[in-house]
Amino acid sequence: MTLESPRTVEVGRYYQVPCVQMKKWGKAYFPVIGPLHEDKEFLDFPWQHWHCDFRFISDRFADKLCKGREKAYLLAQVVAADTTALGPILKKKLCQRPMPDFPWSLLEWQRSLGKLEIAYAKHHINVENPICPHRGLPLVAPPDKRGVTVCSGHGLSWDLHTGALVCRASKNFSEREVLP
Ligand code: FES
Repeated sequence: MTLESPRTVEVGRYYQVPCVQMKKWGKAYFPVIGPLHEDKEFLDFPWQHWHCDFRFISDRFADKLCKGREKAYLLAQVVAADTTALGPILKKKLCQRPMPDFPWSLLEWQRSLGKLEIAYAKHHINVENPICPHRGLPLVAPPDKRGVTVCSGHGLSWDLHTGALVCRASKNFSEREVLP
């Protein structure tokens, strides 16, 4: 089941957000974005999971989840379906932050992203209703000055003016450098 996530949000306001209750965290509800899916194809991740919606995670909870890593790391974190007590339900959550940049410092992630970029190089998004064609996540991160938004799922970047994919990792795929 997928419940729609709010597309544009304002920090400090409450929104109805799809959440799952994780067995590990007792009664806490964990905000998620996009459909339940697995990523065998390019990312070698065969488990059914949701992505967390970092906008609605408090600093206190983020600190527990990140365990010393940068908070952007949360964007690469997932909630496995078999760790949840229930499917997603809507809960009222406070918007804590706009979506940050994708965690480019994860070198392994850049390699996977490079493969994804090659596979999706010819795809375009509908700029009126931007949804990532990879796994159907809504493109909710605020665009940068050039109008480029980063998908909170696996980091594909999309130009919201033209709908085209913006490649970042595949150009440097063999160099394994941290991208700017
Ligand atoms: S859903 Fe995978 S990159 Fe967007």
